[in-house]
Amino acid sequence: MARPHKILVVFGTRPEAIKLFPVVAALRADPRFVPVVCVSAQHRQMLDQVLEIAGIVPDHDLDLMRPDQTLDGLTAALLTELGKVMDAEKPDRVMVQGDTATAMAGALAAYYRKIPVDHVEAGLRSGNIYHPWPEEVNRKIIGSIASLHFAPTEVSAAALLAENVPEARVHVTGNTVIDALQWVTERIREAPELASGLAELERRFAGKRIIGVTTHRRENFGGGMEAIAEAIRQIAARDDVAVIFPVHLNPNVRKVMEAALGGLDNVALIEPLDYPHFARLLSLAEIMLTDSGGVQEEAPALGKPVLVMRETTERPEGVAAGTARLVGTETSVIVTELFTLLDDKAAYESMARAHNPFGDGQSARRIVELLANEIGCQA
Ligand code: UD1
Ligand code: UDP
Repeated sequence: MARPHKILVVFGTRPEAIKLFPVVAALRADPRFVPVVCVSAQHRQMLDQVLEIAGIVPDHDLDLMRPDQTLDGLTAALLTELGKVMDAEKPDRVMVQGDTATAMAGALAAYYRKIPVDHVEAGLRSGNIYHPWPEEVNRKIIGSIASLHFAPTEVSAAALLAENVPEARVHVTGNTVIDALQWVTERIREAPELASGLAELERRFAGKRIIGVTTHRRENFGGGMEAIAEAIRQIAARDDVAVIFPVHLNPNVRKVMEAALGGLDNVALIEPLDYPHFARLLSLAEIMLTDSGGVQEEAPALGKPVLVMRETTERPEGVAAGTARLVGTETSVIVTELFTLLDDKAAYESMARAHNPFGDGQSARRIVELLANEIGCQA
């Protein structure tokens, strides 16, 4: 057999780690490939939570997170440090996922070395370069560099074709987040103690209707975060409701949420949950309220209505399927939409259908097979 191909897998944040660990596992299991994992550690604690549960020990850890890091400072450091790893490792190909600063800088550093880049979760587009910011431009940059584009859905594949990416380079694979969610669900089934850490909160809120919340988008910092906090305060004023809110470690999120919601009886502001515990929260929640990308994909898969606190979404599949609704960041709209779901059974039931437009749990396997075809090394 020809020598195995070295794939440098580059990531740095919690969602990239969640969506790439199934691919790393599939590459590791395949003798045609040698995956080398480089984490920028653009996130630290939230990345480490995923690495631990997924059993990944990075080959390179750049430890680049700085408190309240700026986009330009982070991007400059990423480009320089990722380039050094590429020079040392000389990979055959580089793999990035999604649209973070790490993914964009990883693609650019590879391009500067003429190393082919493979893009997982390619083709997501909102059509607005400031929503989400800076991710819409990050993924367009990666899209103009990538060799293989692994689009999660037909919608994302069509967006790439509309940008004149050659059809032969675009493959619909499903989103690897569904592989990750299925994997973690199975781990919890085998070992329920992996997700038992919410038991005390479950007792405290017994009989209440749980709303799960996450928020972190940069374009919502400032007024948007304050309006979201006020909506949560009004929602939690109802006696029949409890909010469980694992708060992102970004200080621009924490300071607003702690000031507005700390100490409220019906609100649990908690530390970021590891993936099994977040899966548990998804199953406990009656409704998810979020501005997250990944949660928009996971909630529909579990039949949980999700109200998306954004103006636009690059994941229209959940909205089309009826399980997600865009509610923006205006307090009154968030509260009205959420109360409608709580009080109108028909409205709730029309959204609460398990629907899986984002994948079937086989995406990582498909990606590895497509990579093998690309290098001319079929099984
Ligand atoms: C980043 C990504 C965003 C992704 C999000 C997922 C960019 C520009 N942004 O946003 O696309 O959706 O991650 O969560 O790539 N922090 C910690 N510990 C952690 C993580 C973050 O303390 O484990 C704090 C630090 O102060 C850090 C700040 O959060 O400076 C911001 O982190 P950063 O990665 O720049 O941005 P996010 O808002 O997390
Ligand atoms: N998540 C988690 N713990 C939490 C909150 C979220 O494990 O406390 C997971 C969630 O299941 C999803 C991912 O993190 O897979 C989403 O990450 P985030 O919202 O930070 O980023 P985005 O998806 O918006 O890029």
